[in-house]
Amino acid sequence: MIRGVTAGSIQIRRGASDDLPQIREFTHNTFSWGDYLPRAWNDWARSKRGALLVAEINHKIVGTIHVRYLEHREAWLEGVRVHQEYRQRGIASTLIQAAHADAKKKKCRVIRLETGAHNVAAQHAFKKLGYRRRAAYVVFKGAACAEETNQVRLAQARDLQVCWALWQQSWVRRASKTIVPAVYGWRWWELTRTRLANDIRGKRVWVAPRGFMILREMDRDFDVTLLVGTKRDAVKLLQAGRMLAQQRGREDIYWLAPAVAHSKEWADAAEYTLDDDGLLVYAREL
Ligand SMILES: CC(C)(COP(=O)(O)OP(=O)(O)OC[C@H]1O[C@@H](n2cnc3c(N)ncnc32)[C@H](O)[C@@H]1OP(=O)(O)O)[C@@H](O)C(=O)NCCC(=O)NCCS
Repeated sequence: MIRGVTAGSIQIRRGASDDLPQIREFTHNTFSWGDYLPRAWNDWARSKRGALLVAEINHKIVGTIHVRYLEHREAWLEGVRVHQEYRQRGIASTLIQAAHADAKKKKCRVIRLETGAHNVAAQHAFKKLGYRRRAAYVVFKGAACAEETNQVRLAQARDLQVCWALWQQSWVRRASKTIVPAVYGWRWWELTRTRLANDIRGKRVWVAPRGFMILREMDRDFDVTLLVGTKRDAVKLLQAGRMLAQQRGREDIYWLAPAVAHSKEWADAAEYTLDDDGLLVYAREL
């Protein structure tokens, strides 16, 4: 236990590529599965679309945070880590406040983050600094399969109006409070008509007569980030997702769904199983 650490003795500065060895040392066992931070570090250190900050005490790195600037003056907070021996000394709070100051300078109006439902420490730290829970998500997993699915096709520009109307009437919109997983990287953002139009243009949207889904393809994962429509067509789309996973050489497809009973019903009908029972999305005005 380190005694006597106060906010006054913590120095905050920009993180750099050179810091990676120290970061690797204290993040290798952040979670039961390790940590993705060392993999992301160099990109974050170089990026102009965000700020990477580290906290130091006596020139030793004891914590870090990354804030990413998205479009529409939204910011995304990620990679909040405090060295195990320096926790509960206000270091995360100092880093989060420094990230807020940075995002405000960039004229961001809102900042969001995702944390696990079991992460009590993180929830305490964020609530204390004015964050409120916006939405809860769960993740379902479907195995790739070769079955053909009829009546599902890639969306075209002319489908935008119908898709937008389906979204507006959807229980998913109410349950998510319009904050949905983004199509690039592990972050959430507000679904706007422009973003949906971009997804259609980017061939990420699949439609059934009364439903649509958005797909996200990343190095490690293949995800349904949004699924909207009647139960019948939503299930068809989820099944088509399993077929698309097979075509793209993936073992599984994941569906990030609002944590409500409807999602479970749809997942069961499409033979998807629960993979993660709690992702909480928090937000704070800046
Ligand atoms: C979550 C984490 C960043 C908090 O860092 P920290 O420097 O210990 O946080 P702070 O000292 O600034 O504490 C902020 C508030 O949270 C509370 N808190 C911190 N850890 C806590 C815990 N384990 N249990 C309950 N409350 C806790 C503090 O008491 C404080 O509230 P208070 O002022 O009312 O006392 C740190 O535990 C960590 O690195 N965890 C592993 C990585 C992680 O989970 N990151 C977040 C992913 S979203």
